[in-house]
Amino acid sequence: MAKQNMIEIKNLVKRFGDFKAVDDISLSVKEGEIFGILGPNGAGKTTTINVVLGLLKPTSGSVKIDDLDAHANPERIKQMLGLMTQETVVEGDLTAWDNLELFAELYHVPKGEIPKRVKRALEDAELTDKAYVRAGTFSGGMKRRLELVKSMIQEPKVLILDEPTTGLDVQNRHKLWERIKELNQKGITIILTTQYLEEADALCDRLAIIDHGKIKAIGTVSELKSKVGKGNILEIIVKQSETNDALRILKKFGVNGSVKVDRVVGNIEKEPTKTFNKISNELEKQKISVLSISMHLPTLDDVFITLTGSKIRDEAGGSDDAARMRAWRGR
Ligand SMILES: Nc1ncnc2c1ncn2[C@@H]1O[C@H](COP(=O)(O)OP(=O)(O)OP(=O)(O)O)[C@@H](O)[C@H]1O
Ligand SMILES: [Mg+2]
Repeated sequence: MAKQNMIEIKNLVKRFGDFKAVDDISLSVKEGEIFGILGPNGAGKTTTINVVLGLLKPTSGSVKIDDLDAHANPERIKQMLGLMTQETVVEGDLTAWDNLELFAELYHVPKGEIPKRVKRALEDAELTDKAYVRAGTFSGGMKRRLELVKSMIQEPKVLILDEPTTGLDVQNRHKLWERIKELNQKGITIILTTQYLEEADALCDRLAIIDHGKIKAIGTVSELKSKVGKGNILEIIVKQSETNDALRILKKFGVNGSVKVDRVVGNIEKEPTKTFNKISNELEKQKISVLSISMHLPTLDDVFITLTGSKIRDEAGGSDDAARMRAWRGR
């Protein structure tokens, strides 16, 4: 049996005054998949997520979760969705145990169940030995692990992770990826936003690339990579004044090149190593001052540049997540 759609977003538009933060987005997330929304700061990721959560009313379009309208059934939707926001919002004055217990109560977990769930959550987060320590003293990675198990305490069908690893170091990021994969293997549908290409590549079954509120492409990672061509990507950085010379040399060896951001880029489909060497030698022969020349298989970075004409800007972003979490909990 084909898997059903757990989340279905249709022609979603969200305006703030005259500004369209989300511009006609349609996508569906299948039961059991990890779906990624990849985009730079301000792309509209959090806005989209907030509409899915029912925290923001769409200007037009619709969102359904397991066939229920996200706005018509707030209480049921709340039980179905677990949320981990972009920034850490654990209560620093409470212990890890109390943080989880409080959340379980807010989600109406049956009283008799709570100690069992909290204990298991602490084990999952590898925080059992810190159960009675104030969460405010935890490291960034520990706080994020606590957040993740907290978002799972009511045993939701769908887990929503808004930039779950932003601000974490590589080691903690990889640890969290493992936890996210484990949860998914247990059958949880996951929708996550990220501005890290590597994260999208490592975790997502399918993803949507968004920029300026619009979807640029949707597919599996390999489908998206195949959009930039079959062969190897050649990248050359030369002086601005010599880009046309470099493009001419590429053409001479049968490679169609173009200028993308600060570099000359081409797709070598046949005999990559040989062609690469020929181009490299010719550049040298013609005394083009090459700052760097390299070749690689297509990455999501290449996909992003091809689709949007710019590199993904990766400075850390943020919004008022504590207020959002309060609104989400309180309704
Ligand atoms: N309440 C609001 N009022 C006005 N503009 C808003 C509001 N919320 C978001 N925006 C704008 O909508 C755009 C999309 O914002 P959003 O927070 O969805 O981006 P994002 O993709 O989550 O970015 P980041 O990676 O920085 O978190 C931005 O230009 C932002 O300034
Ligand atoms: Mg955001």
